Amino acid sequence: MKHLLSIEDVSREDVERICARAAAFSDNQQREIKKVPALRGRTVLNLFYEASTRTRSSFELAAKRLSADVVNFSAYRPDAIVVRCPWAGAPALVAEWTDAAIINAGDGKHEHPTQALLDIYTLSRRLGSLDGVKIWIVGDVLHSRVARSNILGFQKMGAQVTVAGPPTLLPRDIEAMGVDVRYSLDDLNEADVVYALRMQNERMQQAYLPSMREYASLFQIDERRLGARSLLMHPGPVNRGVELSDEVVDCAQSLILEQVAAGVVVRMAVLFELLAASRAFDPVPEHQSA
Ligand code: CP
Repeated sequence: MKHLLSIEDVSREDVERICARAAAFSDNQQREIKKVPALRGRTVLNLFYEASTRTRSSFELAAKRLSADVVNFSAYRPDAIVVRCPWAGAPALVAEWTDAAIINAGDGKHEHPTQALLDIYTLSRRLGSLDGVKIWIVGDVLHSRVARSNILGFQKMGAQVTVAGPPTLLPRDIEAMGVDVRYSLDDLNEADVVYALRMQNERMQQAYLPSMREYASLFQIDERRLGARSLLMHPGPVNRGVELSDEVVDCAQSLILEQVAAGVVVRMAVLFELLAASRAFDPVPEHQSA
């Protein structure tokens, strides 16, 4: 792997290797000294042209835990550049102009591959294999780069994906991605996993819904709608009271905090894969092994 521009850049075997390495890093994160020297002397540049709460801080922490120098905005000859921007395809353009490894941290409505990887990691830790797992992605699919990467990523790992939401928030040709399409949550209790999307008001150029109140009355995941055996996920940040009710955000079925925690170790594994995997190196140094 030279870059991570799309979830389509990785095979199922790549995803499994990244998840295994993230699990090794996760064990390491329980120790007093969390840093490993894998990227000592390397420079990671964070280029974020869009608001980000968790992605930016988890990339920064991931690089620092691997002992890389981290620079925000500009750096001379970086080894990796993490790009978050509102323009679909911009990270792929940057990849043509530099020798650095480019990691797409979200480009417009296009893709967010590290979100898909951390969601696969989180679910695999809970369920083992994703083969045959029924995952419903609910809400604003039209404006969601997370939905696009996650549909492709979950399918790659063998899951059956359904998308559900109001017709105005589902892309017209979404069936071509091999998903089931539903315009109501009547059968939501079929789902092993409910993946609620953030309502992305900042990307809406017209009124797609009569009102948020009407959206919430038909599509909000609340205690009444969430099946007793379904797990709940959300990429964050959550609009409480819109796509999720307050009580389900913190319920026992919610994996949202596990997704946040997975962000750092999965991004460590991605940086390791791109910058260090070719140099034989054990992510858990001998002096820190049990
Ligand atoms: N999930 C996600 O990308 O969150 P941020 O927009 O806060 O980075």
